[in-house]
Parts: sequence; structure tokens; C-alpha cells
Amino acid sequence: MDRLRVLLTFGTRPEAIKMAPIVHECQKRSARIELFVCVTGQHRQMLDSVVQYFGLPVDRDLELMVPDQTLAELSAHCLTGLDAAIVDYRPDCVVAQGDTTTVMAASLAAFYRRVPLVHVEAGLRTGDVYAPWPEEVNRRVASMTAALHCAPTPWAAENLLREGASPETVHVTGNTVVDALLWTVARERRRGASWRRRFHYLGSRRMVLVTSHRRENFGDGLEQICRAVARLAERFPEVEFVYPVHLNPHVREPVHRLLSGRSNVHLCPPASYPEFVWLMDRSTLILTDSGGVQEEAPSLRKPVLVMRETTERPEAVEGGGVELVGADVRKIVGRTSLLLTDAAAYAAHQIDANPYGDGSAAQWIVELMLRQGWRQQSPAAAARSPRKRAASVLSHRGD
Ligand code: UD1
Ligand code: UDP
Repeated sequence: MDRLRVLLTFGTRPEAIKMAPIVHECQKRSARIELFVCVTGQHRQMLDSVVQYFGLPVDRDLELMVPDQTLAELSAHCLTGLDAAIVDYRPDCVVAQGDTTTVMAASLAAFYRRVPLVHVEAGLRTGDVYAPWPEEVNRRVASMTAALHCAPTPWAAENLLREGASPETVHVTGNTVVDALLWTVARERRRGASWRRRFHYLGSRRMVLVTSHRRENFGDGLEQICRAVARLAERFPEVEFVYPVHLNPHVREPVHRLLSGRSNVHLCPPASYPEFVWLMDRSTLILTDSGGVQEEAPSLRKPVLVMRETTERPEAVEGGGVELVGADVRKIVGRTSLLLTDAAAYAAHQIDANPYGDGSAAQWIVELMLRQGWRQQSPAAAARSPRKRAASVLSHRGD
């Protein structure tokens, strides 16, 4: 029997984390799926550490990370590199996850070759193309080209339907970030003793975990975030602040300039994924502008203050576990202080169910891929007739 040829691509830390469960599900079905993994290498150290932790197979690495490159340079190189991978691997479908430059380029590359795109984590929207920038546009490009939209929540699916996606192409699958988290947290809790030794300076004290990397926060926003952390560290000398600093130079410079040398602020390199999961689990609360962290924290019942003006993940905000505080010193300090001093306010931010998934998203996504009827032509025939192949693919989308 011909196997479904799947080209799965990712380039950054969060994509690798969220793709890992899908890779594992494809590997379990190796009798039905022939998997090719192409990483763009948009990230390097931060990607490699995830690839290693989950033991992900990499068939091709485009090695595109150049320190501080522009979005245009990165987009151009991703597009040509992924196009070559599509030509060489002749996939029946391309799978991309999320909203990075890698995803936007994968969507276009698949579209130009008329290969169906599976978009994982589809349908997130803020409605503002500049927040998050450029991610809001990246994910809209993916939605315009996708043949199968894997929406993490009903709200995300509704966004897609409102924009005109065909209902039979939109499925609510949950977010694979929860699959990865549940597997990892169970594993790392078993290694608690060694993590406690590693972070011995925490003792039994409370800890606030901090991350930041959003482009729209570069400059003034990030300076405000740092001033807020400095003020909180002074106000709460008995609380430890752990801040794994993203490798983007626009983040590293202000964070180290404004926060170095404080005894209860611990600036460290990006944490490996298992380390970060253990830190989230150990934390009292989390200050972040990350998308993935907003989705993970509810599973650990950790309150999150999101240092952004808007979020494309409103479900946990509505559920009470996540609160938007902007990149605003006064609000960050005020709301963090409240959660550190008022037990009732803290408890109100702990939610019992994670609205982003139950740990079975990857299984659903891979089953959906297999049901699409995309294995219609031999790769050789398809390569000879890309137009006919697209028609065949499209006619089977609703299977
Ligand atoms: C990217 C994504 C963002 C995602 C984030 C996850 C885009 C436009 N942005 O942002 O959506 O939320 O990843 O972290 O796709 N660097 C290193 N080593 C690494 C990674 C980054 O040195 O392993 C430095 C390099 O100087 C690199 C810079 O960070 O040029 C920026 O990396 P880039 O992928 O362009 O943007 P991020 O800010 O990481
Ligand atoms: N993460 C990590 N180490 C860190 C910070 C975050 O492994 O030092 C993980 C986190 O658990 C989540 C993902 O990286 O799964 C989020 O990535 P990031 O915040 O860089 O990107 P975003 O989700 O905002 O796109």
C-alpha cells in the first residue's frame, strides 16, 4: 500500500515543541505514513535543544539562522529552501504549525507547488496586524492557503468559518502544546530532586518566572517590563525572580542592562524545555508575553500575567487564569503585587480545566490527515502533472 508522504516543517522553539507530538504520532503509524522532516533552522540553539529532547528525526536542515537578520531576508531564504524540499520529497501534504516566518513561508511554498497544507494551531486572531507583529499576518497567510485547518479551540474554528473557510476543512483538535506538556511534566516531576539541586538558590521560597520576546515590545515595552521586574524584586526581597532570557539581541541587551546585579533576579540563558516545564511547575506565578506559555500554564494551575495589549488566546483570559497587563510598569507591578499578597485573588487565577486541550490533539490531527484521501497518485505521476494533482487533492478534501 502507498504510504501518505508527509513533509513536516518547523523552525523555532515553540513550533518544535508543538510538532513533537505529531512527529511521534506519525512514527507510530509508519505503516501508513512516510514522514520527512525539514527544519528551517530559523532558531538554532533554542531549536536544537527541543529536537534533542524529543528525539525528533531531521531529514533536512536549511540552517537559516543568521544573527539579527531581517524578516525579509529570513522569509526569502525560507521560501526557496522549503520549495526545494517540496520538489525533492514530493509530499502528499505539507504540515506547518503556528504563526512564525517559517510557517508563512511553508504555506506559500506549498501553495506555489499546489500541495495541500495542514495548518496546526489554525484560526488564532487578534484582528490587529501589528499585534502580534508579524505573526498575525503569518497565520492569516497560512489560513488562506490551508487545505486542513486544525483549530485548537471552538473560538479559533469560528474565526476561520467567519473568514470563509469551508466547514469540512475546519476541525477542532485541541492544541498539541498540551500533549507535549503533559508528557514532559510527568517525566520531569520524577526528576524533581535533580532540578531542585540545580535551582538550589530557590530553597522553599516563592518564585516568579518571567519571559519576554515579542517584537512589538522591543524598545519602550521591554524597558517597562524590566523596570517592573526591578521594582517588584525590591518590593518583595523574599521572592525569587527567574528570567530565562531569549537569545534575540533586542531582548538580551535591555534585560541585562536593566536587571543584572540584583540578588533575587536570576537572569539565565533560555531554559531547555524540560527545565522550563519544571520551572513553570515550581513557580508561584508567571509574567510573560509568550503565546505558548499562556496555553501551558492553565494545565499547571499557575496564574499568568500577559505583558501584551491583546491576545489571540482569549479562552484562558475568559476562564480567569490569564490576565492582560500590557507592557506597563504600573499595571505589571500592581497586579503582580496583588497576586503575591492576596490569597483570594491568587486562587481566582487558578483554573481547573485547560481550554486549549486535553493531551490528545496530535492523535486527532494525524487521523484527520490520513482521512483526506491525499494519497491519490503516485509521486512520479504527480510530479509530471502538478495541476491535475491539485484538482485530485481538492476533490477529496471533504472525505
Ligand atoms: C520567533 C518568531 C516568533 C516566535 C518566537 C519564539 C518570527 C518572525 N518570529 O521570534 O513568532 O514567537 O520565534 O521564540 O517568526 N537567536 C539566536 N539563537 C536562537 C534563536 C534566536 O541567537 O536559537 C537570535 C538571532 O540573533 C536571531 C534572533 O534571535 O536572528 C531573532 O530570531 P527570529 O527567529 O527572527 O525571531 P524571534 O524573536 O526568535
Ligand atoms: N520555553 C522554553 N524555554 C524557555 C522559555 C520558553 O522551553 O526559556 C518553552 C515554553 O514552555 C513554550 C515555548 O517555549 O512551550 C514558548 O516559546 P516562546 O515563548 O519562545 O514562543 P511563543 O510561544 O510566544 O511563540
